[in-house]
Amino acid sequence: MSRRVYIETYGCQMNVADSELMLGLLCREGYARADDPADADVLLVNTCAVRDNAEQRVIGRMGELQRYKRKGGVLGVVGCMAQRLGPALLAQVPRVDLVVGPDGYRNLPELLGLAQAGDRVSDTEFRSWEHYEDVPPVREKAPTAFVTVQRGCDYRCTFCIVPRTRGPERSRKLADVVREISGLVAQDTTEVTLLGQTVNSYHDGEHDFADLLRAAGQVEGLRRLRFTSPYPADFTTRVIEAMARTPAVCEHVHLPVQSGSNAVLKRMLRRYTRERYLEVMRELRQAIPGITFSTDIIVGFPGETEADFEQTLSLVTEADFDDAYTFKYSVREGTPAVRLRDHVSEDVASSRMARLVDAVRGNARRKNIARVGQIHEVLVERPAKRGDLQLARTRTNQLVLLDLPASAIGEYHRVRLTGTTGSTFTGSVLLPALAVL
Ligand code: SAH
Ligand code: F3S
Repeated sequence: MSRRVYIETYGCQMNVADSELMLGLLCREGYARADDPADADVLLVNTCAVRDNAEQRVIGRMGELQRYKRKGGVLGVVGCMAQRLGPALLAQVPRVDLVVGPDGYRNLPELLGLAQAGDRVSDTEFRSWEHYEDVPPVREKAPTAFVTVQRGCDYRCTFCIVPRTRGPERSRKLADVVREISGLVAQDTTEVTLLGQTVNSYHDGEHDFADLLRAAGQVEGLRRLRFTSPYPADFTTRVIEAMARTPAVCEHVHLPVQSGSNAVLKRMLRRYTRERYLEVMRELRQAIPGITFSTDIIVGFPGETEADFEQTLSLVTEADFDDAYTFKYSVREGTPAVRLRDHVSEDVASSRMARLVDAVRGNARRKNIARVGQIHEVLVERPAKRGDLQLARTRTNQLVLLDLPASAIGEYHRVRLTGTTGSTFTGSVLLPALAVL
């Protein structure tokens, strides 16, 4: 019997990579991938637990997906929300047969067998040795790929559920990561993003993140190397040097700051001050000319005063971020911040959010307008949602819409940025003869 599995993915890049792992595991056991839930015997939803609205979205979607569940079929919840709620999810959503956390994917074939036989099963154990090293992920063939180098997190940011959903930090062996990247390059992938919750604290017992960057950068045919997300306090001089000396490492860093106020950073248990954060940025800017920065910011953390929030607003300008993902603080049961006093009201958080978004957009817009006319190397990644255009990316992480055929996907071009919406760009491809100008 051919069994078909459909996986829907929510949340971060690591979940995207984990879904590819699960497909790898299941295809090895004779499953085939379904792109449409209507064609599938097994429906899996890979979930995020970082904010309540991410979980609510999944609950809503489960209601829709259960319509596709066949007789003898399985509807499963996997990932961080599965880990957070565990067997309680089985009680809460009657049509769900299977709940598996991020360290339990190896048991999926067996658990699916039980679920197909009518059991309702869960596996939410942490296995700190689990790297899924022997599982080749099944990926869409693409010019870009995610490679997980570190799982779990040992930090204890007081707002964050991740240490409770992904377990303790562990790094893969450098040689294994390099082997995976070489395999990807052999399949025509030329850009890789290394993934970890605090990726720059990578250490496999022998090699640190600087070694990893240098080794990955030496893989012949790999033209671009990115990583996400680094922890601001963990940028050593060695890592900055490795970034500067490894030509494949792109001139962009996503550097989550969370807040511009030292009092808030302290209550968040972030291990840096505003001043130290800015110093790290300065060091990176000095070592890597043209580097750009994006960040994550939380508004309305417990105890955040108007003055604290104004510190965050002023940081947006002072740090001169190119982009920022902004989140309203979301209470996560089981995290230390739940017990902090002075929770910020929804109204105040919403109005701060609106002011922050304005500041972030205004700064990005000003920077992007100044970029029009510049020449950049881009990698054509995929078709754009609009019309026949293709979406390409500069090394510095700007998105550029190009009038090229789909056959250009995977190609590198030199383009002139011709216009901007304030966030994305239009561009024109320079002919090779002109490109030297
Ligand atoms: N270490 C990871 C963080 C994962 S969570 C990384 O650096 O990518 C991703 C982002 O979600 C965080 O940077 C934070 O800005 C946001 N976030 C996490 N918990 C949150 C919460 N309880 N409420 C609002 N935003 C949160
Ligand atoms: Fe979360 Fe902080 Fe780790 S944001 S993933 S606890 S570094």
